Amino acid sequence: MAKGIIVFFSFLLLLASPYLASASGSGLSYDFYKTTCPSLELLVKKEVARIYYIHGNAAISFLRNMFHDCAVQGCDASLLLESVPGHPGEKGSEHNTGMRNFKYVDEIKAAVEKACPGVVSCADIIILSGRDGVAMLGGPQFKVKTGRRDTRKFSLAAADATLLPQDVDVTTFLNLMETFGLDIREAVALIGAHTVGRTHCKNLVKRLYPTVDPTLNYTYSYYLKKRCPTPHPPLKAVLYSRNDPITPMKFDNNYFKNVIQMKGLLKLDNALYLDPRTKPYVVKMAKDNNYFYAQFVEGISILTEYKVLTGLQGEIRKHCKWVN
Ligand SMILES: *[C@@H]1O[C@H](CO)[C@@H](O)[C@H](O)[C@H]1NC(C)=O
Repeated sequence: MAKGIIVFFSFLLLLASPYLASASGSGLSYDFYKTTCPSLELLVKKEVARIYYIHGNAAISFLRNMFHDCAVQGCDASLLLESVPGHPGEKGSEHNTGMRNFKYVDEIKAAVEKACPGVVSCADIIILSGRDGVAMLGGPQFKVKTGRRDTRKFSLAAADATLLPQDVDVTTFLNLMETFGLDIREAVALIGAHTVGRTHCKNLVKRLYPTVDPTLNYTYSYYLKKRCPTPHPPLKAVLYSRNDPITPMKFDNNYFKNVIQMKGLLKLDNALYLDPRTKPYVVKMAKDNNYFYAQFVEGISILTEYKVLTGLQGEIRKHCKWVN
């Protein structure tokens, strides 16, 4: 009798498993839009290239969108929703300072809607444009799964609580990465995305004034002080320093080479080289660009499948800024 029950339950589990799988987010596939929007991947790629030649920094924004969307309640395009009265959007989080170029995501969405109305999610557009942005910046080319759906929920409080502050320590960083399913090696590779883009002086001055952070290269601090000449940067002026002054628009392993010379802009950048858990990977990625690329692709594939909505969950937004 008892055996019969166990067999019965295992049978139920077997029956239920495809549905369980899709509820937990693996309802994604390569070429999800093969029949509903066959031109999608080529179309997004062309749009990203078109935008890149107008405004190269947009490619970096597309890369950042993946992290800042996926980290907060999963890859569901919650990042893109505008505030409505009484309900502030995630873009207003202080951890999203400097996130911009959202209008270009809207342009890509408009082009996609024209070709395939009502079928492609903004959540997938974030991932596809991020992936293509990395390629435009000279980084690795790789396949990503699609089939994500758009959320109707967003939360400034969740963005404030989940996105990392500029002065985060290695343990907090690794713990968060672990919740996304990322191991230490993949976590270090993803931080390599700091090889492109810039850091606002607002986030730098604490490491320069009144005294220079001892984990920062002292010679380099002279250069940084030139970029950020006062401890209280005026709010309006967009003072910043390139994360990687050598090849700021190239997705390469220069970030790790800089970090080894204590030239990381954020506290975390330098801390990754000082911490015995992460240092071996920093060293290896500084030596071997292909190793960095391979780990980055592995990590980004895991992150971009984190807590996705699939099947009939959520919706397909018409405009990425608003729920339907
Ligand atoms: C600091 O930067 C200088 C100048 O680029 C470099 O020569 C030196 O090796 C760096 N210091 C460390 C500790 O790596």
